[in-house]
Amino acid sequence: MQRKIFIWDIPVRLFHWLLVAAIAYSWYAMEILEDLNQHFIAGYCALTLVLFRIVWGFVGTHYARFTNFIYPLSEVVSYFRNPSGKARKQYLGHNPAGGLSVLALLAFILIQVSTGLFSTDDYYFGPLYGLVSSATASTITEIHHLNFDIITVLIALHVAAIVFYRVVKKEKLIGAMFTGGKLAKGEVQKPITSSKLILAAIIIGFCASGVYLLSNASIDSEESSAEYDFY
Ligand code: HEM
Ligand code: HEM
Repeated sequence: MQRKIFIWDIPVRLFHWLLVAAIAYSWYAMEILEDLNQHFIAGYCALTLVLFRIVWGFVGTHYARFTNFIYPLSEVVSYFRNPSGKARKQYLGHNPAGGLSVLALLAFILIQVSTGLFSTDDYYFGPLYGLVSSATASTITEIHHLNFDIITVLIALHVAAIVFYRVVKKEKLIGAMFTGGKLAKGEVQKPITSSKLILAAIIIGFCASGVYLLSNASIDSEESSAEYDFY
């Protein structure tokens, strides 16, 4: 017998689709609009979201916690060897492959936003540019460029994996990221009973305030002091 149980809280679902929007807009602002001010704003939104998700990974609801999707190496290896094992238990939250991809996405997006803070195109400057020498800033800017290529590959793999689960394994993962509910098979699994919205609002408030202060940091360097008033 199958029944739908609630696993993704509202903050995780909002986090996911807002992150998709922030990354897409950040790329669009940079490459199509060529508007670095807009690029920065989208980047700050992505930073706020990732910081929130890291904290939520410790204090959020059951399936959102890192402990729920960081598996022992042996389980990850066994999953990759035989992902469709018939006798396998159902992973209601992220499975071992999904857990790894979530960690990789979060880590590389964190690198992207952190390097952006020190990056420059010699006209616009990230808010922390003044903390490093111009040679270091140009190396960091290079990393910002290269890292985006890695993120692009990770996103392509992420979407391909989800299509694979839909087509081959008939698992409707996308619907669950919208509605929060997933079909549970067989043995009783634990649904979440609340989205902990007040806690989530407090955490997002702290993250957004921190990022706002950071975005207004006026750490001057000789090269950038003329530009800071704009951000
Ligand atoms: C979601 C987060 C972000 C993504 C996906 C992203 C992506 C990119 C991409 C694709 C480029 C163009 C690279 C190229 O043309 O080869 C770029 C350039 C740049 N980004 Fe970001 N970025 C993000 C966050 C940030 C943040 C938070 C800042 C600073 C506050 C920032 C500052 C810059 C700067 C200054 C450049 C221009 C570098 C240059 O033209 O050489 N980025 N970013
Ligand atoms: C910019 C592009 C994307 C990024 C950065 C991204 C990132 C992520 C992250 C970080 C998670 C983990 C969610 C959490 O536990 O908080 C996730 C899960 C998920 N994403 Fe995405 N995502 C992207 C695009 C998409 C797209 C286009 C789809 C739909 C086709 C999608 C569908 C899903 C689904 C279904 C899950 C849950 C997977 C599972 O059940 O284990 N994502 N994504």
